[in-house]
Amino acid sequence: MKDFTVENLTAEVIKAYTSQAATPRLKAIFESLITHLHAFVRDVELTEAEWFEAIQFLTATGKKCDDKRQEFILLSDTLGVSMLVDAINHPKGGAGTESTVLGPFYVPGAPDMPFGGDVRRRLIDGVQPCLVTGKVTDAEGNPIAGATLDIWQTAANALYDVQDADAPEWNLRGCFSTNENGEYALVTEKPVSYPVPTDGPVGQMLSAAGRHAFRPAHIHFVAKAEGFEPLTTHIFVNGDAYLDSDAVFATKASLVGDFVESEDSALAGRFGLPTPFSHLEFNFGLMAS
Ligand code: BEZ
Ligand code: FE
Repeated sequence: MKDFTVENLTAEVIKAYTSQAATPRLKAIFESLITHLHAFVRDVELTEAEWFEAIQFLTATGKKCDDKRQEFILLSDTLGVSMLVDAINHPKGGAGTESTVLGPFYVPGAPDMPFGGDVRRRLIDGVQPCLVTGKVTDAEGNPIAGATLDIWQTAANALYDVQDADAPEWNLRGCFSTNENGEYALVTEKPVSYPVPTDGPVGQMLSAAGRHAFRPAHIHFVAKAEGFEPLTTHIFVNGDAYLDSDAVFATKASLVGDFVESEDSALAGRFGLPTPFSHLEFNFGLMAS
């Protein structure tokens, strides 16, 4: 029988998890995970009280999750892990639009919307409409017809519909398709910056670190087309005060769009909008799969 010590424990645990691991990839993941986890515990000389606090923190994170709230994704996002996974899997460069995090508020199954459809299922006085137009193209700039753009965003009260008991179902969400020229158009409201949820353990972690919880204003997009890699991204509002300090580290310069106040009455008339309205023109590039 072995005596497990500070000196030999890590090697023994690695051996136990890797000698019969189901696949070479799992073996590599176990080896690295145990190496780094044990190194962290050694490095900070974790006390028993701190270890127990960590267990309570993770337990509270799990308890905060339900079908509308994903505190573990929020934890990953606020620690920069989601963005690191994104950066490793979608390196910069190439003709495609850059990706960023999905975030915890994506809801699959948003209603299909017509060209130019309006995702405002509740109109609020004083909130300007926003027209978003553009093209979806391949790496050579050829239009992709029939691409889908699943979009979601916060309302003017800085809440997603799933956070707001008074919001109509699917408010500010919809699934759009490009026409035969690869063009899309949708009507929404200009997004606002908003805090990530702070009423759970992640909020406590942010305040313990002295970090603010805000994300710069953005619209989420998941773009898909047959024969192309799916793209998960946002378009951020140029000029937003939080572009340089996103709580989840998910900004990229190429994803900042100009939301221009427009008086174009012909365009307004085409989409049934009053003037002035906010207009974002943004083209998406997809990479062949
Ligand atoms: C979001 O943009 O919806 C989001 C992303 C990461 C954490 C919280 C919210
Ligand atoms: Fe968001």
